Amino acid sequence: MKRYRDIAGDGGSNVAGQVGAQQARLRRRLEPIRFVVAVVSGKGGVGKSTIAGGLACAFALGGWRVAVLDADLNGPSMAKVLGARGATLRVGAGEVEPPLGILGGRVMSMDLLLPGDAAPLVWDAPTQAEAHTWRGTMEANALREFLADTAWGALDVLVLDLPPGTDRLATVVSLVPGLAGTILVTIPSDLSQLIVKKSITVARGSGVPVLGLVENMAGLFPGPDAEALAREAGIPFLGAVPFDRDLAVAADRGEPFVQTRADREAARALRAIAGRIRTALEGAAVPVAEARTPSA
Ligand SMILES: Nc1ncnc2c1ncn2[C@@H]1O[C@H](COP(=O)(O)OP(=O)(O)OP(=O)(O)O)[C@@H](O)[C@H]1O
Ligand SMILES: [Mg+2]
Repeated sequence: MKRYRDIAGDGGSNVAGQVGAQQARLRRRLEPIRFVVAVVSGKGGVGKSTIAGGLACAFALGGWRVAVLDADLNGPSMAKVLGARGATLRVGAGEVEPPLGILGGRVMSMDLLLPGDAAPLVWDAPTQAEAHTWRGTMEANALREFLADTAWGALDVLVLDLPPGTDRLATVVSLVPGLAGTILVTIPSDLSQLIVKKSITVARGSGVPVLGLVENMAGLFPGPDAEALAREAGIPFLGAVPFDRDLAVAADRGEPFVQTRADREAARALRAIAGRIRTALEGAAVPVAEARTPSA
């Protein structure tokens, strides 16, 4: 039997060449995209996907060419939120055409690849311990492929919807060297803010600009002030999106709430937050002082 030391170089597999080629493909793929932003929160269930979808729609309403990559491989939701569930993926020469979602936004999600509703993403390995060890590496590879092999085309913004936790942020930062910024989401509860404080530290330490903090489900709990949290942390406060049950209904139906319920406070807030992010991305300062009183 051949032993490890008997194998010359990489044994002829050209692993380094393959990884290099994929990284070059990834760089070329991201070149025509002006801004890539990531929606993150250490806390689960605070509305990251809802905010990511709402912002994508608001950007599209403002005339931007938009796509969303669902970076939550184990709990994918963006295909549903953007009304693209069940779409057929068109595969071309070494690339996949991302289906069209509401308001013309493109979306790519593990949800579009998994068969049926109940099939979870399973990393198969001889033992559970090994599956756990490999999960991080496999997920990073899957994200790299999603980014590199999807025919995004020319975009103004690609929004990444991250899973709960901040550990994946480092993966995304390493995959997308020019990541334009992070958007943090919290809700008005002590528990959420306790965790999001740590997320802010991670996001600031990542070397990527923190575009700001969004308070979601504002008014639902008599919790602490997210604006104060942002001020203490020295990051912009982007605005407060009130709890609105029709926003949840629209997300479930894959409808563009910011357009169909345009006069709702939550829709106005989402449009205003998108405007602030756009301004920040295009180089001007975020008008933090106006963040509490969003206007259309
Ligand atoms: N402002 C809001 N008003 C009403 N319902 C909301 C609001 N924001 C989010 N929701 C609802 O709360 C639930 C959780 O939202 P969502 O899935 O976006 O959270 P998440 O942070 O992405 O969760 P996960 O951590 O699992 O990825 C969904 O049913 C969504 O429709
Ligand atoms: Mg989510």
